[in-house]
Amino acid sequence: MQSTSASPAPEWLVTPDDANDLARAVWPASAHRTEDGEFVIGGVPASDLVREHGTPLQVLDEGEVRRRAAALRDAFDAATAAHGTSARIYYAGKALLNTTIVRWMLDEGLNVDVCTGGELEVALRAGADAARLGFHGNNKSVAELERAVEAGVGTIIIDSTVEIERLGRVVADRGAEQRVMLRVNSGVHAETHDFLATAHEDQKFGFPLVDAPEAVALIRRTPGLIFVGLHCHIGSQIFGVAGFRESAERVLALHEQLLTGGDVPQLNLGGGFGIAYTRVDDPVPITELAEGIVAAVAETCARRGIAVPALSFEPGRAIVGNAGVTLYEVGTIKDVTLDQGIRRYVSVDGGMSDNARPALYGAQYSARLASRVSEAAPALVRVVGKHCESGDIVVDHEYLPGDVAPGDLLAVAATGAYCAPLSSNYNHVTRPPIVAVRDGAAHVIVRGESMADLLARDAGITP
Ligand code: LLP
Repeated sequence: MQSTSASPAPEWLVTPDDANDLARAVWPASAHRTEDGEFVIGGVPASDLVREHGTPLQVLDEGEVRRRAAALRDAFDAATAAHGTSARIYYAGKALLNTTIVRWMLDEGLNVDVCTGGELEVALRAGADAARLGFHGNNKSVAELERAVEAGVGTIIIDSTVEIERLGRVVADRGAEQRVMLRVNSGVHAETHDFLATAHEDQKFGFPLVDAPEAVALIRRTPGLIFVGLHCHIGSQIFGVAGFRESAERVLALHEQLLTGGDVPQLNLGGGFGIAYTRVDDPVPITELAEGIVAAVAETCARRGIAVPALSFEPGRAIVGNAGVTLYEVGTIKDVTLDQGIRRYVSVDGGMSDNARPALYGAQYSARLASRVSEAAPALVRVVGKHCESGDIVVDHEYLPGDVAPGDLLAVAATGAYCAPLSSNYNHVTRPPIVAVRDGAAHVIVRGESMADLLARDAGITP
């Protein structure tokens, strides 16, 4: 058991009164426990899901995804209407992409942002009207641009001078017209609660503000390219309005300058709205965020005496992050004695192959027993995977009932964004299925991989 006087627990981790509780901000609204204590999501008990689909299992709460998409849409519609303009929300497909999600987004009135030819193909295969797609990427190939132009993609977000020339040729060869934005780098880089604002940011995306006028002039001179506005994305998992405000002010100075050379009807301020991964994360409610960002844009425009452009935003994580839960089965338990106390390692049957974020970014998560509740005193645990790597962490720091044991099901919260897309077959582990749940029903939206899938690529195996 964990002693409170000597503990390897980090300062931010709160010892819960009840290590079975489901913190509201972290879990989907549908998450609750049955009378027997079993974890339920989208009306489906964990044991039913696992019986049918095994573990590890990525579960996605359809109602939660749709509710969050609609809330973002409504919040930005209301905030922009109050300032005499409009907003378009593009779901950032990189957070989690499959044809089912694309259809949910289109249903909810959203558009979709894709950043490779592969993502574009998923959106098109979902039946998306290409006009509702935005196409990103700092190194789009000629083939990708050709596909986008031929499909009729609504907006291509240009990221380099090479791309202006490349796209110019693609458009000219087809006698086509293409609406484009220019991605700029405002020098504002927001990270969670803080943001940094520099004159020159050392990163690959976008044009530095000082170089943008020349790039826009080149776009405007290129037959077939229609410049519609600037794009700027300041980072991901951002809390608060301050970073967006600073960035919008900088970008609008450039926007005003560009108005002397022609129309600039739009402005895209990117995505990055933060979510709660643990109970200490405290994201600003979406209505507050929308009002704050749109008001900042409107005030800046008023000060500069320019019209408020039509706005667009590209949230990914804020739509799918908290709607996803991963179910694992506990395999082994090990107590390791450290100078600061005991750390209990709880090993599950997945790991960095289905969630690379702890290993990649030191990301923190929350976990709960899913098959039962327990009155046992909370113990500090580190949930780890089955991979041959010590950085294979699933949940770095969490309190679970101290009697957690092999065979228990564990639910890890907020795994809906950037887990499946960053998944791998490290150690020849197959990737789990994604199952959507809603109103007590579950269905597979991406099937799990089989060992045959994995072995099929090995040219040394004769079929
Ligand atoms: N728009 C652009 C241009 C982006 O680059 C991104 C994210 C988004 C929108 C959506 O950001 P979101 O709203 O989802 O935060 N793999 C990292 C996140 C990488 C984000 C890349 N770009 C992670 O797991 O935290």
